[in-house]
This record gives sequence, C-alpha cells and structure tokens, in this order.
Amino acid sequence: MISTESLSKKYGDKFVLREVSASLPENKITAFIGCNGAGKSTMLNIISRLIPASEGCAFVDGKKVSEWDSRKLAQNLAILGQNSHNSARISVEDLVAFGRFPHSGGSLAERDFEMVERALKMTGIEDLRGRFIDELSGGQRQMAHIAMSIAQDTKYILLDEPLNNLDMSRSVKIMKLLRKLAREESKTILIVIHDINFVSFYADYIVALKDGRVKYEGSSEAVMKSEILSDIYGMRIEIEEYKGKKICVYYQ
Ligand SMILES: Nc1ncnc2c1ncn2[C@@H]1O[C@H](COP(=O)(O)OP(=O)(O)OP(=O)(O)O)[C@@H](O)[C@H]1O
Ligand SMILES: [Mg+2]
Repeated sequence: MISTESLSKKYGDKFVLREVSASLPENKITAFIGCNGAGKSTMLNIISRLIPASEGCAFVDGKKVSEWDSRKLAQNLAILGQNSHNSARISVEDLVAFGRFPHSGGSLAERDFEMVERALKMTGIEDLRGRFIDELSGGQRQMAHIAMSIAQDTKYILLDEPLNNLDMSRSVKIMKLLRKLAREESKTILIVIHDINFVSFYADYIVALKDGRVKYEGSSEAVMKSEILSDIYGMRIEIEEYKGKKICVYYQ
C-alpha cells in the first residue's frame, strides 16, 4: 500500500504541501485532482522519491520511501513525471526497454524482451518501434513514455498527466488499459488528470487537493459532486448523469 503521514513540502518558507495523511487503495486507480499549483506533482514526486519531503513521510508497503533500496524501489514503483520526458535520439523500442533497467541492470534477458513487446502491444505503438523519439509527434512521444512505464511491470504505477497531448481515442485507450492493469493484474495506479470526466469514468478513488491540502477524498461517486468540484476549482460546475456516470459541465 502507498500511504503518507503528515507529509509537508516547503520551498523557502512557503508550504506547497501541508500535513497530508492519506492511505491509497490497493489495486485501484486513484486520481489526484486540483488546480494548477495545488500540489499534485509534488505529492507524486515525494511518493516516488524524486524529491524529498520537508516534514512527514511517504510509505510504500509500510516502509518509509527514504529507506528503500533504489533498485528494489524501481522494481516496485514506476513514475512518469509531468516533465520527465526524454527527447534523445533513441528509438521507441530502446526507450521502452529503459523501463526494464531495474530488472535487467542493462543486459536484457528473454523476459525483458517479452515485457517490452507486451508494453508496445498494449499501448498499440508497435508500428512506432523503430522511430526515433525526437522525431515523433507530442502524443506519439507520450505514448512511448507510457509504454516505458508499463514495461517496468511494477506493482505501483504513478503517472503525472499521462493524457497530455493524447487525442480522445488514445486517452480512452490508455484509461482502459490502466483499468485492466488494476483489475486483472492487481496494479495500484496513481494518476494526475485534469480532464474531470475521464476521472469520473475511470478512477475508482479521488484525492482532491487545494492549496497543498487534501480537501476531499473518497470514491469517485462520493467526490464527483457539484459543491465539492465547484469548491476545488473555484468555479461553478454542474453534474449531469450519463449511463450511470457523472459528467461535469463547466463551460460558461
Ligand atoms: N522547485 C520549486 N521551487 C519553488 N516552488 C516550487 C518548486 N516546484 C514546485 N513549486 C511550487 O509548488 C506548488 C505546487 O506545485 P505542483 O507542481 O505540485 O503543482 P500541481 O498541482 O502539479 O500543478 P499543475 O496542475 O500545474 O501541474 C506550486 O505553487 C509551485 O509553484
Ligand atoms: Mg503537476
């Protein structure tokens, strides 16, 4: 399980995350929502140890993230950061194979090749395998990075705005894939998404941040309410029902 205890982060004397204590459900998709600057990336980056906390702790399987051996942590937790994109002159296949590094240590075994193939297939980008990353469109590059995270085959998959640059069809494809990984392969997925209707359709659990604090959390059903979302985003948001799911209408 991933949890945090009184987690805070400050830059100078400004707190950007304040005393966040949360236990995130296993084998589910948890979406972090909130305005720009609310602290979503900070939270994911601390959990995945990309940045240190100022106070409090994040725990992975009950152990402080700071106490994990780096390789072991990477065998258990993959993070695709909001800005951690590679634009080097390497092929898509090689980028996806980077995801295997914590397991292979650099020399790929049969299982690693299998997992690379599987990730290319699951994301539907086999046709891009020989293309160079720096010659891809923004969305194609995004798909390659998602494939890399999936190839890592970790119990925990953290994705910060993975739908950026993706068209609607690919966004749906990725969300369905994540749902399948959570339901059929017992992965625990933490995701940041701005498109609230994707959250409503595909997330099981929502953590809503405002000014560095968890203002609301609960099942998608419980958090997808007009008054909650209007408070989080500081604008009027209406909720409509469609096929038993809640749709947010926020165009003004
Ligand atoms: N290195 C840094 N130095 C100073 N302030 C920072 C730094 N990194 C982030 N911040 C601040 O921390 C706050 C939270 O940032 P964070 O990236 O977590 O927001 P976010 O919720 O992911 O927003 P977005 O939706 O825009 O990605 C912001 O006010 C940001 O300006
Ligand atoms: Mg962010």
